[in-house]
Amino acid sequence: MKMAAQVIDLQKHYDLGPVVVKALRGVSLDFPEGDFVAIMGSSGSGKSTLLNLLGGLDRPTSGKYILGGEDVSQMDDTQLSTVRNQKIGFIFQSYNLISQYTVLENIELPLHYRPGHPKLSPVDREKCERMAQRVGLGQRMDHRPFQLSGGQQQRVAIARAMMNDPEIILADEATGNLDSVTSIEIMTLLRNLNDEGRTIIMVTHEPDIAMWAKRQLVMRDGVLFKEIVNEVRTTPQSALAAQEDKAFVDDEVAKATLAALPKTASADPGVVSGAVSGEKKSDNSSKKK
Ligand SMILES: Nc1ncnc2c1ncn2[C@@H]1O[C@H](COP(=O)(O)OP(=O)(O)OP(=O)(O)O)[C@@H](O)[C@H]1O
Ligand SMILES: [Mg+2]
Repeated sequence: MKMAAQVIDLQKHYDLGPVVVKALRGVSLDFPEGDFVAIMGSSGSGKSTLLNLLGGLDRPTSGKYILGGEDVSQMDDTQLSTVRNQKIGFIFQSYNLISQYTVLENIELPLHYRPGHPKLSPVDREKCERMAQRVGLGQRMDHRPFQLSGGQQQRVAIARAMMNDPEIILADEATGNLDSVTSIEIMTLLRNLNDEGRTIIMVTHEPDIAMWAKRQLVMRDGVLFKEIVNEVRTTPQSALAAQEDKAFVDDEVAKATLAALPKTASADPGVVSGAVSGEKKSDNSSKKK
C-alpha cells in the first residue's frame, strides 16, 4: 500500500539548558494513503510535537520523515515549505484565522503562498467561493471571524486548509473548543474529506472524537504506547442518533451537511454506510503493516 507519510525512529529533544526535555523518544509509524488516525494520550505525551513534525513546522532531533515518498529530513527550509504548502492542510484548536480578514480572504490565504506568488485569478476566486459554500458559509463570505460562531470559524479553517488540495490534513484538537453538536458538524466535514481519499491525522483528548477515526494511536511519555483499531467507527448518522438533539437537525447548515452524505452503502469501502448504530469495518486496510 502506498504511504502518505512515514516516520522512522523520530526523536525530538528540547534543550532547556539544565534539562533536556525528550518530547519524542523514538517513534516509528506508517500512515497509508487514506488513513484516518486519532492520536491520543495524556497531556505532555508528545502528541502536538509529533503533529508539528508531520506538518513540517518543526524539525526532528533525529530520525527520518518520509512524506509522499520524499525524505523531508534532508530538505532545506524552502523545499520544506513548498512541500508543506502542496501536501498538507492544518486545522488548529484555536482556528488561527486572521481577524481583520473576511471569511473569503481567510480562505484565499494559502493561494498567496504558491510558488512564484501568482495573483489570484477569477478561477481561484471561484474556487474559494466554492470552498466557502462547501463548508456551509456561502452566505457569510464577507463576514469577519468575530461575527462567526466557533464552529463556523473552524469551518473557515477547514476551507482554508483545503485550498491547495492537500493529500494530508493535520488537525490538533480541532473540536477542542466546540460543543458536541458543532463537533459532529466538523467531524462530518473531516469524514467527507477522508472518504475522498485524503489522509487525516488528528490529535484529540476526546474518546468520542477518536471513534470517528479508523484507528487510534496512544502516546505515552514520547513513545507510541498502543494502537487501537476502531472496528465500529462513529459515523455522522450514528453520532447524530446518539446526540438526540433535534435543534441541530433544524439547523440549515447541518441539514445541508446531512443531505450531502451518501445514504446507502457503497462499493467503495471508504464511503459512509447508512448504518445508524455505527459502521462495522471488515477490511484490514487501515491496520498497520
Ligand atoms: N517548544 C518547547 N520547548 C520546550 N519543551 C517543549 C516545547 N514544546 C513541547 N515541549 C515539551 O514536550 C513535551 C510534549 O509536549 P506536547 O506539546 O507534544 O504534548 P501534548 O501531548 O500535545 O500535550 P497536550 O495534550 O497538553 O497538548 C512536554 O513535556 C512539553 O512541555
Ligand atoms: Mg498538544
